[in-house]
Amino acid sequence: MSPLQIALILGSSRPNRISPHVGNWVKTILESSEASSPQFSIATVDIDTFGLPSFNEPVSPVLIKDLSKFTSQSARLWNHEIAKYDAYIVVSPEYHQGIPGSLKNALDFLYHAWAGKPAMIVTYGIMGGSSANESLRVILERGFGLKVSSFSPRLEFPGRDPTKNNASQALMDAMQGKLSVETTGFWEGKREEVVQAFKEILESVTVV
Ligand SMILES: Cc1cc2nc3c(=O)[nH]c(=O)nc-3n(C[C@H](O)[C@H](O)[C@H](O)COP(=O)(O)O)c2cc1C
Repeated sequence: MSPLQIALILGSSRPNRISPHVGNWVKTILESSEASSPQFSIATVDIDTFGLPSFNEPVSPVLIKDLSKFTSQSARLWNHEIAKYDAYIVVSPEYHQGIPGSLKNALDFLYHAWAGKPAMIVTYGIMGGSSANESLRVILERGFGLKVSSFSPRLEFPGRDPTKNNASQALMDAMQGKLSVETTGFWEGKREEVVQAFKEILESVTVV
């Protein structure tokens, strides 16, 4: 059996974002974990490289079964890229209690490329990106019929001070695009949850 192809989708697009670092942290854990049967390969997919416009298709992607029929080249490329994978890891920050608009916009261009496939969610933020995590689950499960794993890791920035709007050095570092060793050290407690979520999606692919 050839390795399962897994896409790790980066959910943010700020110039100094930390999502690539969070994605690498997740990827490294999974590639070094025991969850290696069946074999898999994880590719990072950066929405930002597709140059998608604000959603501008004349109809909902539910009606576009032939992915080459999307009107813009960027939407066609994005759909063909997503269609290549067996399962998905969506790594997203929380912006204003939800997911970044750029992520939602990119997801709105999809339907048949991934409907029904397995996915897992990893969010990060002051409270682990809990609101984004829940919102993303609704979008993926109800919007696309994806099979979302029950484990859904929420990665919290350490050291929040409730008397200062929950600010912390880790949050200030993240705003500047820096994922500190203190933060990833704190997230070690979430390692097992990340692995369990991934095992779920691998199992979900293989039982299809
Ligand atoms: C527009 C914006 C809104 C934000 N809103 C939230 C929020 O609602 N909850 C939260 O935990 N963090 C919030 N933050 C802080 C982010 O968690 C932090 O900046 C993180 O680094 C964002 O991920 P990114 O670097 O990949 O863009 C916000 C940051 C930005 C830029």
